[in-house]
Amino acid sequence: MTNILAANADSIRQAAAILRRGGLVAFPTETVYGLGADAQNESAVRAMFAAKGRPADHPVIMHLADATQVDEFAAEVPDVARTLAAAFWPGPMTLVFRRKRNVSPLVTGGLDTVGIRVPAHPIAHSLLREFGGPIVAPSANRFGRVSCTSALHVADELGGRADLILDGGDCPIGLESTIVDVSSGQPSILRPGAVTAEDVAGVLGSRPTGRIASAPRVSGSLPSHYAPRARVEIVAIDQLQQRTSDLLAEGRKVAVLTQTPAEVNARVHVLTLPQKLEDLAHNLYEMLRSVDQKGCDVALVTLPPEEGLGVAIGDRLRRAAGPRSSDRSESV
Ligand code: TXA
Ligand code: MG
Repeated sequence: MTNILAANADSIRQAAAILRRGGLVAFPTETVYGLGADAQNESAVRAMFAAKGRPADHPVIMHLADATQVDEFAAEVPDVARTLAAAFWPGPMTLVFRRKRNVSPLVTGGLDTVGIRVPAHPIAHSLLREFGGPIVAPSANRFGRVSCTSALHVADELGGRADLILDGGDCPIGLESTIVDVSSGQPSILRPGAVTAEDVAGVLGSRPTGRIASAPRVSGSLPSHYAPRARVEIVAIDQLQQRTSDLLAEGRKVAVLTQTPAEVNARVHVLTLPQKLEDLAHNLYEMLRSVDQKGCDVALVTLPPEEGLGVAIGDRLRRAAGPRSSDRSESV
């Protein structure tokens, strides 16, 4: 059984004690909920991979209470990384460094680099302080599925697989952190997020590169990720009505997610995406989950403008729509 406790000083103490004895604790961050384990306890890290159903070669992010701890785990902290950390930590940004040898290859999926983040969420921060060491935490969902932005989502995904869920309400941002690789001199964005390429350019004076072919594996960059059970299709706004009718004619149960819903068939489950990109990001995963709850087979989505936070929203929706392997199932 997984206990769910409202996050407060007492439950945070309990959570730290669970981590110390090798257990798994899900906790809120400003991006999404994480499934935490003691980064320096290999059997705890293994249990965390097993609970998620995550392949061993996919690295996890190490969370720290304080940016000054980075030098304990990063072999080299280039100036650009110090600048980015000063500007965006604590906050929704992960930096990828060359790792020191004290970082277990289990954490890094065998890579020579380690992803590190200092979260801003007060509950995540208190837990890290109370625990006193690094916590590895992937998003608290089963591998390949939609990340969790509420304690209830975590219970749906990982109930029985975590020892405790700290309930801290909805995650303010609702999309995973921006990942910036600073391990090779030239900063490069591996995963877009609430810290945008423009934000990064604003402090560095030059735009980071996009993902490069030789970049290390990022599971969030697999073709299908962040996906509900329903098939997701990206459609142009002027094709929405036709595609909806075609699918209805095939007998499909259809959901439509768009910022500009036109009159649609009463049989369609319509989810109006908020106009403000911050609100859209905040609600997106809840909406994708509701598509499954309504029993829809297909979700038709129109993309918001891909600028600013819209880049990260577009990225997640494209991945939700990405090709799935034929044997894709909850057992991945
Ligand atoms: O906002 C977030 O980043 C959330 C919260 C809980 O912190 N965490 C999260 O973790 O999204 P996860 O494991 O679902 O996604 C982390 C991504 C993965 O795609 C992983 O491949 C990538 O970070 N990553 C971790 N370490 C890396 C490394 N050394 N090099 C390249 N990518 C790395
Ligand atoms: Mg994830």
